[in-house]
Amino acid sequence: MKIKSIKNRNYKGKKVFLRVDYNVPIEKGVITDDTRITATIPTINYLLSQGASLILASHLGRPKGKPSPEFSLKPVAERLSKILNKEVKFAPDCIGEEVKKMVNELKEGEILLLENLRFHSEEENGDENFAKELASLADAYVNDAFGTCHREHASVYQITKFAKDVAAGFLIEKEVESLSKLLINPEKPFLLILGGAKVIDKINMVKNLLDKVDTIITGGVMAYTFIKAKNWEVGDSKVEEEAVPVAKEIIKEINKRHLEFHTPLDHVIVQKISEDAVPIITERGTVPHGWIGVDIGPQAIEEYTDCINRAKTIFWNGPMGIYEIKKFAKGTIELAKAIANSKAFSVIGGGDSAAAVDEAGVADKISHICTGGGASLEFLEKGTLPGIEVLKEE
Ligand code: 3PG
Repeated sequence: MKIKSIKNRNYKGKKVFLRVDYNVPIEKGVITDDTRITATIPTINYLLSQGASLILASHLGRPKGKPSPEFSLKPVAERLSKILNKEVKFAPDCIGEEVKKMVNELKEGEILLLENLRFHSEEENGDENFAKELASLADAYVNDAFGTCHREHASVYQITKFAKDVAAGFLIEKEVESLSKLLINPEKPFLLILGGAKVIDKINMVKNLLDKVDTIITGGVMAYTFIKAKNWEVGDSKVEEEAVPVAKEIIKEINKRHLEFHTPLDHVIVQKISEDAVPIITERGTVPHGWIGVDIGPQAIEEYTDCINRAKTIFWNGPMGIYEIKKFAKGTIELAKAIANSKAFSVIGGGDSAAAVDEAGVADKISHICTGGGASLEFLEKGTLPGIEVLKEE
């Protein structure tokens, strides 16, 4: 897929509307993970080096179309300013007279971050007038908000009908290139690692990858849902009941294709989920009555590491257990390290697995870490996204 690049365009003296995805976790006003901010720095620096001034726009959280201080992007402006070691002006809204005035006063090389786009319901409704108003602020439009490209929202989708000069930033380019490598002639064997919860949300992605992958390994709620689908005992482990019928269907498809499929050979189990719980290891791949599976066991780690070592392509989405609690994080961390040490082309879906790779200190050894959980899943399901389609070269 060829998308419009920001390379070889003239941004000298131009005001560029740069859509970013700064939907970052904020606790008590403090940003706890700034990966999505740092991921846009190459595009920001490039555009500035070309003589542009930047109007940055993003959403944060789901404020339901109304201004709400807890969803303000102000802390993001401060963090970005620290990262760039440069002033980042902050506008109190994303449209209106005051914003226009601030944009008019913006000089070459300066940066202005607009307030949360979702303070206006028109953003999520894909309102064309709102999109037009946003587009009218600038001489060019660049989208680098990969994490939002699965949404047909005004600043991602409709705006491209009105913007004068449309292109994709370096982050989107990199995301599309890496995810496309999984879909188009992936090097074999291709290993799919499925973990975490939200099983239903991932099912269509799994179905689409069945014709491409050779091996599937599972952990977390995903594994317990599949174990239940095999009619094995899961004890009190968390299962996504509504996904069990479709997990059964997937097992049938896997068998039809003779793929290698694993649920954990053993589990770390507890009687209650807490920091002071005393875990034990099961002897087999089931969980006894009254117990909860919280991590994969040592035999599973060994088997999964072997699958990783044999793979030439790996896609990993979701942790192997309740990795937020340190004593249940071993399986997830060990897999992260094994992936980092493997020679495979490795892609990590966003969210928890990305955080785990960070936690394991191996992020720089992974071929690509997606900045969008939902967006990467939908891309792997459909091969494109609405926000990417409008950035395609004609
Ligand atoms: C994300 O975090 O997945 C994106 O920023 C999109 O956010 P949304 O799910 O609220 O649309």
